[in-house]
Amino acid sequence: MTAERRRTQVAIIGGGPAGMLLSHVLSLNGIDSIVLERRSREHVQGRIRAGVLETGSARFLRDVGLGANMDHHGHRHDGVSIAWQDKPEFLIDTKRHVGLSMIAYGQTALTADLYAVREAAGAEIRDHVADVRLHDLTTHRPGVDCVHRGRPLTIDCDFIAGCDGFHGVSRRSIPDRVRQDYERVYPFGWLGVLAEVPPLDRFIYARHERGFALAAQRGPSLSRYYIQVPSGTTTGEWPDDRFWRELVRRFPDPMSTAIEAGPTIEKSIAPLRSFVSEPMRYGRLFLCGDSAHIVPPTGAKGLNLAISDVFYLARALDWHYRKQDDGYLDCYSETALRRVWGATRISWWLTWLLHRFPDRSAFDDRLSENEYDHLLASEHAQRWLCEQYAGLPYEA
Ligand code: APR
Ligand code: PHB
Repeated sequence: MTAERRRTQVAIIGGGPAGMLLSHVLSLNGIDSIVLERRSREHVQGRIRAGVLETGSARFLRDVGLGANMDHHGHRHDGVSIAWQDKPEFLIDTKRHVGLSMIAYGQTALTADLYAVREAAGAEIRDHVADVRLHDLTTHRPGVDCVHRGRPLTIDCDFIAGCDGFHGVSRRSIPDRVRQDYERVYPFGWLGVLAEVPPLDRFIYARHERGFALAAQRGPSLSRYYIQVPSGTTTGEWPDDRFWRELVRRFPDPMSTAIEAGPTIEKSIAPLRSFVSEPMRYGRLFLCGDSAHIVPPTGAKGLNLAISDVFYLARALDWHYRKQDDGYLDCYSETALRRVWGATRISWWLTWLLHRFPDRSAFDDRLSENEYDHLLASEHAQRWLCEQYAGLPYEA
């Protein structure tokens, strides 16, 4: 079979939210790209992930013409509650403390919007791509070799955007001597279910001696719930009835009695990890989203970070092509990482505060309890948390 050779300005590795949003924003700025995605379209669009957008993320999505479905089907909320066993409920009241609300809009829905808008624009999105290899990254003519549906494909480009998630090839194409990885692996995961039952009326993080739980929504009759489970647990160990029994035990009354159980339509386990890889640039390769960093889902920062990375990278590429100015490209890694570390810190802190750690001492438990008491009592502490929970502003 003859090899195919293509040229584009930006080769984008990965067709998740980071890659698709980047290709959309680039096209608005007149920059062409080709997206290379390893999996099938159905697989990418079927993945269930978190679904809370910061004000800044929502604003950016509106600015690039992606606000219609989000504003119509999404659900605005002014904060998330913490239900701590035997203590008063606490609302992370972002509206009150920092004047910002959030929008509940599932990543699955946003991914569908992105594929729709790119397909309508005639974008080149290659799925079922295998053996992706990046080369000549430190030259002005980098390239990508891969196999697309069995046929060898070479892409010549000006830049490569590594949007291929935690398990992708982009980050690993940066030599070890240049790259520094920072990681914390937690000894538990979240078992998440989707069920066609009416959800509770708000997002609630439950802190309980049996472990953490979370109540979330995907629509008026679609609930998303999670419970903390030990690492190594499989979904087979959690038939529906066991899941619902455990879930309600972790919420205090009257929430526990308000939870409606029903058959689940999706069930999966995500391990919890904090991970940051620096720098986010190597020559003409720029990392975006999960390829460079992972946060535990406590705080729902993962998708928001992918969106802010895209904001910074799209602006940098726009300045490169339109103004022949590489200032933003040169500070991309540093700027993006400042926000990444902010979100890494707050999602680590919330994870530490709200989960049961098997190896934690009684001393640490008392500290976390005192931290919560301080949060209940101190306006300063509330504001500190709200500022970060709502998402730090994008840098000019
Ligand atoms: N070649 C091409 N595509 C690849 C490769 C590869 N070698 N490896 C992975 N991919 C694809 C994956 O199949 C996936 O579709 O890259 C895509 C990466 O998408 P995501 O993992 O969704 O990452 P990202 O786009 O950065 O979005 C971040 O996803 O995990 C959540 O919490 C996270 O919400 C955040 C969002
Ligand atoms: C979700 O809606 O799935 C969700 C909400 C908040 C989180 C994590 C996940 O912190």
